[in-house]
Amino acid sequence: MGHFRLLFCGIPVARFVNSQSRVIPASCTLSFGNRCMKKEELGILVVDDEFIVRESLTKWFREDGFRVDAAPDGLTALKKLQAEQWNLVLTDIRMPGMDGLELLQRVKRINPQCVVIIVTAFATVETAVRALKEGAYDYITKPIDPDYLNHIVNNGLEQQQLQLENQRLRNAVSELTAGSAIIGECAEMRRVIELVETVAPAETTVLITGENGTGKELVARGIHQASARRFSPLITFNCGSLGELLTADELFGHEPGANPDAHEMQKGKIELADGGSLFLDDIGSLDLKSQAELLRSLEMKQIIRLGGVDPINVSVRMLCASQEDLEKAVHEGRFREDLYYRLTVFEIKLPPLRARRGDVAKLAHFFLGKYARSMNRKMQGFSPEAMLALKAYEWPGNVRELQNVVERALVVARGPMIEREHLILHTDSVSLSTGKRLEDMERAHIAVILRETGWNISRSATILDIDRVTLYHKIERYGLKRQAQPAPLR
Ligand SMILES: Nc1ncnc2c1ncn2[C@@H]1O[C@H](COP(=O)(O)OP(=O)(O)OP(=O)(O)O)[C@@H](O)[C@H]1O
Ligand SMILES: [Mg+2]
Repeated sequence: MGHFRLLFCGIPVARFVNSQSRVIPASCTLSFGNRCMKKEELGILVVDDEFIVRESLTKWFREDGFRVDAAPDGLTALKKLQAEQWNLVLTDIRMPGMDGLELLQRVKRINPQCVVIIVTAFATVETAVRALKEGAYDYITKPIDPDYLNHIVNNGLEQQQLQLENQRLRNAVSELTAGSAIIGECAEMRRVIELVETVAPAETTVLITGENGTGKELVARGIHQASARRFSPLITFNCGSLGELLTADELFGHEPGANPDAHEMQKGKIELADGGSLFLDDIGSLDLKSQAELLRSLEMKQIIRLGGVDPINVSVRMLCASQEDLEKAVHEGRFREDLYYRLTVFEIKLPPLRARRGDVAKLAHFFLGKYARSMNRKMQGFSPEAMLALKAYEWPGNVRELQNVVERALVVARGPMIEREHLILHTDSVSLSTGKRLEDMERAHIAVILRETGWNISRSATILDIDRVTLYHKIERYGLKRQAQPAPLR
């Protein structure tokens, strides 16, 4: 089989031609670090005023598997660069109109990441140095050496892809860390953040308690990310989601034949978290048998897969969350006392949102910014009425509910401002949870309106469509009391 190149005026026109004159396809992928990229996804634009040079270079790269196009002059090239994404521009230096150096500067303005390689028949050190200073990746002189051409094109693309990959990773990391920012400036939340920072570097088991949506999982992620284990996985398991058998299977894994469905060995969550952290959500729902096994694993730092006999060493940092009072579960015999003491070595209690209304504005702005960015919207903020309503609301679903309310408001709002009517607050959920009698509902409704208006009696009476005297009577009758004012807007 022949293996030779055809050159025209020093330009390669075909490669690897076999005895039947058929072109043998070159490899269709390029490897960059541990990433592979299909060549057809990489675009090369050839710019030269000589037809034969354009043709032969286009053919050369096309046969190699790249997406290729050509332009006879700088202006045509710029149009193509604006219309489509090109990874690499191979340009002649001397062309009528715009020369290669000017094209280089303009390409870099359109796409700073584009690799530009200058082709010149007049290799003077001066032009080459100028081109490199202006941001060219490299230059090549005519007559072109095909091996050298391949070498610099592949290197240029490799460097570009590594830079892009680097940028993607940086973005991913900053997204990850931004996603785990714990917002809170009230004294209780400052204390929580302090506790997270204190406990993170230690190996201590942490119990995070709080109502639903108060940020238990966020705190667990915060601890893991601030710990030395942050480069290893954080595995999450919800203890209340499965029955007793499946829970054990999920936590400890199994050997083949451990049950009729266990055809292959499967690692459990504890083993998967080896080297990292395991977040056991809703730990209060864990069945007593799994509790005993978990305690054993914690103490021995070993697990035994279901159906197995050999203990396996594991190094896992345990983070647990519970909505319910575990002490009560211990009293009721649903939770092992020894495990309870093991888990409560370090406890972080998250306050409900209604107990820290001072953080509502900050959180609302944080979520507004986050969703506005993801929806590509420019938002100014909340109207005073909207903010008043947010700060007065009970937030039975805590921070998660606030997050959902803001996201929904952003979808509904057309303008740059979130108005009161864009907020859907389930004020009736308060009355439903307090009782079903008409009187209970009236009491809860009046309480919400009073809170929303900051106990402005005239405004509340107008909204409720009753006179002020009637409102005073109802306040007295229902024993409604003005609560401490929320902290001022920051
Ligand atoms: N202090 C906070 N700052 C920023 N975001 C928060 C905060 N607290 C909670 N969130 C956000 O609210 C949502 C709910 O939080 P998370 O899932 O951590 O709550 P949870 O206590 O685990 O809830 P559940 O008990 O229902 O499992 C998440 O999207 C989280 O990022
Ligand atoms: Mg949770």
